[in-house]
Amino acid sequence: MAEIALKNLSIEFGGFKAVDDVSLTVANGEFVVYLGPSGCGKTTTLRSIAGLVRATSGDVLFDGVRVNELTASERNIAMVFQFVSLYPHLSIKENIVFPLKARGVTKVQIARKLEWVTDIFKLGDELARYPGALPPGARQKVALARAVIRDPAVLLLDEPLSAIDEQFREEMRWELGHLQRQLGVTTIYVTHDQREAMSLADRIVLMNNGSIVQVSEPNRMFFDPVDVFAGQFIGSPSMNLIDLAPVEGGLRLGDSDVTLTVARDRLPQWALSAGRPLKLGVRPVNVHLTDEPGGVFLPVEDIYSVGRERFFSFRIGETVHQGVDKRVSPGGSEGCVHFDPEGLLFFDAATGRRVAAEVKG
Ligand SMILES: Nc1ncnc2c1ncn2[C@@H]1O[C@H](COP(=O)(O)OP(=O)(O)OP(=O)(O)O)[C@@H](O)[C@H]1O
Ligand SMILES: [Mg+2]
Repeated sequence: MAEIALKNLSIEFGGFKAVDDVSLTVANGEFVVYLGPSGCGKTTTLRSIAGLVRATSGDVLFDGVRVNELTASERNIAMVFQFVSLYPHLSIKENIVFPLKARGVTKVQIARKLEWVTDIFKLGDELARYPGALPPGARQKVALARAVIRDPAVLLLDEPLSAIDEQFREEMRWELGHLQRQLGVTTIYVTHDQREAMSLADRIVLMNNGSIVQVSEPNRMFFDPVDVFAGQFIGSPSMNLIDLAPVEGGLRLGDSDVTLTVARDRLPQWALSAGRPLKLGVRPVNVHLTDEPGGVFLPVEDIYSVGRERFFSFRIGETVHQGVDKRVSPGGSEGCVHFDPEGLLFFDAATGRRVAAEVKG
């Protein structure tokens, strides 16, 4: 096990900054998930930790020791990619013990280790078979078993489940989380799937354009996004974003005639008085259509179901937003729209940065 630190890490490819001044410390035994859109630099960061790509500037440290100059094989890491490459002509057992054999570990030790990983991954029945005979989920388990059998200090996983069928993915995800806690190995997991990140991570590192946007535990990432990007990247259906204009008595929603009154502890006074344009971020789960009086009137566009929940859409100007339909009888387009006060997130329209009444430590 090891603590990993990235210090002002930048990685350039011919002048293009794929990773731009990233600093992060991953604690010993922690499960950190790198999350972000395609091309944001997740794989490049992971490969630099693995020793497969060189830092242009900055440092990679394992337990406080700079490892920039060490090759992948000198770093005691194990890496598993999206597409597993098992040796097709070797049995599952031979595949799993391959890294130990390559290191000249004794037969007795190999047998003991094999029993251990076979037990963890429940691969006992597969040992004599060959990779070609296994479904992708099982092959991925073999790859993970092969990765952990030599007790790596760090486990690096790059979208390891994305080639697996949806139905097995969830099960594998659960098993992987369970396994990581059992092993206690420092793990960095890369994905662009926010649900995967939310369910696996001790902490999520959200990246965009080569930079870290936010580092938070999953709940905090959901409830306390630092900017519009973080707010919209996390959560499904996506956070609504509504233009706000400070007016007498509150904040007007877009070009509607609806004004929201906002408690003082939700928004600093300066934001209201400065006349500076704001944006309201509010997740669909925090907007309700109800039979209760109060709330605001906004015309309903559409009612539809997602899973067991009934959603409604409403329009402000050109933009359609979503909320949850909580009326007893779903018919009709009349209803009162309520915004949960605690679900209102305010952003500076110019910078996209969150405007919070008090910055919670
Ligand atoms: N060897 C390379 N040479 C040139 N450009 C590269 C190289 N590797 C990555 N890049 C570029 O760096 C950027 C980051 O790539 P990276 O693979 O790290 O993204 P990612 O976040 O893993 O994306 P994805 O979710 O699609 O896997 C991309 O614009 C990519 O084209
Ligand atoms: Mg990638």
